[in-house]
Amino acid sequence: MKTGEDVLLLKSVGEIASENPEKIGVFKKYGVDFCCGGSKTLQDVCEESGIDRILIVDELKNYSVAENDDNYSLSKKAKDWDVNFLIDYIVNIHHTFLRVHIPEAEDYVEKIANVHGKGHPELLKIRGLFNKMSQAMFLHLDKEEKGLLTDIKAGKTENIKQEIEDALYYHEYVGHILKEMLFLSSGYSVPKDACASYKHAYELLKNISDDIMIHVHMENNILFKKI
Ligand SMILES: [Fe+2]
Ligand SMILES: [Fe+2]
Repeated sequence: MKTGEDVLLLKSVGEIASENPEKIGVFKKYGVDFCCGGSKTLQDVCEESGIDRILIVDELKNYSVAENDDNYSLSKKAKDWDVNFLIDYIVNIHHTFLRVHIPEAEDYVEKIANVHGKGHPELLKIRGLFNKMSQAMFLHLDKEEKGLLTDIKAGKTENIKQEIEDALYYHEYVGHILKEMLFLSSGYSVPKDACASYKHAYELLKNISDDIMIHVHMENNILFKKI
């Protein structure tokens, strides 16, 4: 293995994702958790998940889609943003996205679980997991906005360490649920007999999952690293 490849393996996956968000596509392909599990080194992730390190390092070096993806190019710029602006962005874009789209997805998931749950029992499990995550998510968004994010803006440091620990804990909890839902839905691929609601529900769940990954990445790997 060349020296350059060793350097990449010793970096944390969160660091790689925040320095080069265009590489996130490779992490998604290999199922690497770069947001909540971002503190692990690439080498450790490869060992734990049985990923071929030469293959992934090679792909990481040659992959580039940043120009075509607004989310990734924005999260690249976010590294240089002022902390207050970054917080406003997270709240106005990501928290708002979840507040709007989670209730919509809940309705659709409820509908398809009722109609197709017998033939596709995984939908019943997905409904249970999604409802659990949604409830916790709304509490988390409020808690972050009233606690951690307000305290950072006001320069109140006494509770910040604990508030960041709480947020990290919750992000990890959500990460586990998202992974399980991804597995149960086979990566949100709809079965052949799927109706329009089924397709729409999976599309919503996939968008929510993608948005949470970027949102948590911005908090864990960019915002929390700045303070
Ligand atoms: Fe957040
Ligand atoms: Fe959060």
